[in-house]
Amino acid sequence: MHFSNKLTAWYLQNRRSLPWRETKDPYAIWLSEIILQQTRVAQGLPYFEAFLHEFPTVFDLANAEEDKVMHLWQGLGYYSRARNLHATAKMVAFDYNGIFPNNSKELLKLKGVGEYTAAAIASFSYNEVIPVVDGNVFRVLARRFGINSDISTLTTKREFQALAASLIPKDSPALFNQAIMEFGALQCTPQSPDCTICPFQLECIAYQTNEVSSLPVKLSK
Ligand code: ADE
Repeated sequence: MHFSNKLTAWYLQNRRSLPWRETKDPYAIWLSEIILQQTRVAQGLPYFEAFLHEFPTVFDLANAEEDKVMHLWQGLGYYSRARNLHATAKMVAFDYNGIFPNNSKELLKLKGVGEYTAAAIASFSYNEVIPVVDGNVFRVLARRFGINSDISTLTTKREFQALAASLIPKDSPALFNQAIMEFGALQCTPQSPDCTICPFQLECIAYQTNEVSSLPVKLSK
């Protein structure tokens, strides 16, 4: 079976039910991805709910007092994220008539939106065929394909993006991206993954060569 088929089969059996997976609204997806940038799902979830409740649309967030936004963000840390969030909401609301850009290239121009976040929003909201590459994806691919390049370099990131691009199905990019991140978060974990129940055990290069605990390789930071 192909990588993506096996991966999505695993995902459909094992995924968590998360509110941002039930929507295609780019505003809600953008909000979730900014919150989750340096924050775990369990910690970010109540903040996501609170922001959407307080600011159901990008106009509500754009028109909010800065103090109110910062207050709601209280506890999440990395406060520049909250300031970028507010600035971007204003830009989308007032310069783009409230409509988020519908492709990763334009999304990248938004403050606080990097390659990962642009790919996440474009694939989840608009089904753009673009792979997300975050820490989870590095780990899953490095292990399954036995890649020992240093993931702290841009060259390696490009290498992983190309590999992921060769694996992502053109007809279901969002599903694939959610699935590979969830697989990294729940099954192919950084520490002590339970490889005995992994669907890729037989073909996983890291498992076959006893390198699960040493991949991915990260030399700096
Ligand atoms: N971390 C970052 N984005 C995520 C998402 N969409 N689902 C689960 N965890 C995430």
